[in-house]
Amino acid sequence: MQTRFLDACHGQPVDAVPIWLMRQAGRYMAEYRTLRQQYGILDIIKTPELAVEVTMQPINAFNLDAAIIFADILPLLEGLGLDLSFIKGEGPVIHNPLRTPADIAALSRPDPRDSLAFTLNAIRLARQELADRVPLIGFSGAPFTLASYAIEGGSSRNYILSKSLMYEQPQAWHSLMELLAYQVGEYLYAQAEAGAQVLQLFDSWVGALSPVDYQTYVMPYSGQAIKRAQEAGVPVIHFGTSTAGMLPLIKATGGDIIGVDWRIELSQARAILGEEVGIQGNIDPVLLYAPLPILKERAAAIIDQMIDRPGYIFNLGHGILPTTPVEHVAALIDFVHDYSSERLRADD
Ligand code: CP3
Repeated sequence: MQTRFLDACHGQPVDAVPIWLMRQAGRYMAEYRTLRQQYGILDIIKTPELAVEVTMQPINAFNLDAAIIFADILPLLEGLGLDLSFIKGEGPVIHNPLRTPADIAALSRPDPRDSLAFTLNAIRLARQELADRVPLIGFSGAPFTLASYAIEGGSSRNYILSKSLMYEQPQAWHSLMELLAYQVGEYLYAQAEAGAQVLQLFDSWVGALSPVDYQTYVMPYSGQAIKRAQEAGVPVIHFGTSTAGMLPLIKATGGDIIGVDWRIELSQARAILGEEVGIQGNIDPVLLYAPLPILKERAAAIIDQMIDRPGYIFNLGHGILPTTPVEHVAALIDFVHDYSSERLRADD
């Protein structure tokens, strides 16, 4: 197996900087759009053969160093009793959002091995299909990011309902977060059991919180989920966006590798995080739209900041966008390998 990605996850030396892209399977690829004409996103996620087909699309198209199982963070909420759909042009919608302590008390507590069996089966099938070409990443949404969808009923700009519940009904908030921490932890653990070799926790919207609110209302629950995931013996990547002002807290919460976005220089993130954790990131996804010389110059600048540091994984600072030019994706991946391997050889 090509082990560059796993080696970097374990802080071991690599021959080139490994790269994968968050949301690497999806609408920017024609192969995905074709399949989507026939099936809804939830149909693809819940049919292991289709989920694996989509998982493989970017692996077959580019020299990526890891695959990520095709799934989504939101089906976990269906198991709790929330009614989810993805509406074209609108994104995810929860039709019965959580608004009161009674709504939270009424949630189901399924075993994620049952409620999310389709993704666990997809992971088993993907490992067979990958045949050790590259490692497979499993993932879950983090308790805060999941709670925000469950409470807001969809995407949000200001998280007014989520934060109001947090401040006005702290007991209900804590019981929801306890439930989510358990679900997320068990789901991640089960994904590793099914064959996921690395796990990523997506706390995409956690940067909406002040550091003190993060500490009070979120940190123990993300920490619990990560700790449980780590019991499975695989590296855990802890990702968030707009976390520049709370990286010490994110690190203290847990994770073997910390994912950072482009709102902080990696050299600065590195100084804050120290050498005990790996770092993943952090190019602005919109740089993939820039002329290639600019994209490469900025990728090189990132690599220059990290090349002498073990445990570095190149990625975007957030998910790839649906209108991204595919040729630029291929060019970035090859550039990261070529430029970093040259630099590593020169430093030998
Ligand atoms: O990375 C991968 O290739 C694996 C697949 C993956 C999807 N969603 C598939 C998807 C992953 C890792 C996710 C995670 C996810 N889902 C997150 C965390 C990452 C992030 O970007 O912050 C979040 C917040 C979601 C919730 C979600 N799912 C939203 C807001 C949307 C609609 C917006 C959009 O991008 O369209 C989705 C739908 C979704 N999940 C799509 C894909 C490929 C697009 C749906 C389509 O095909 O119409």
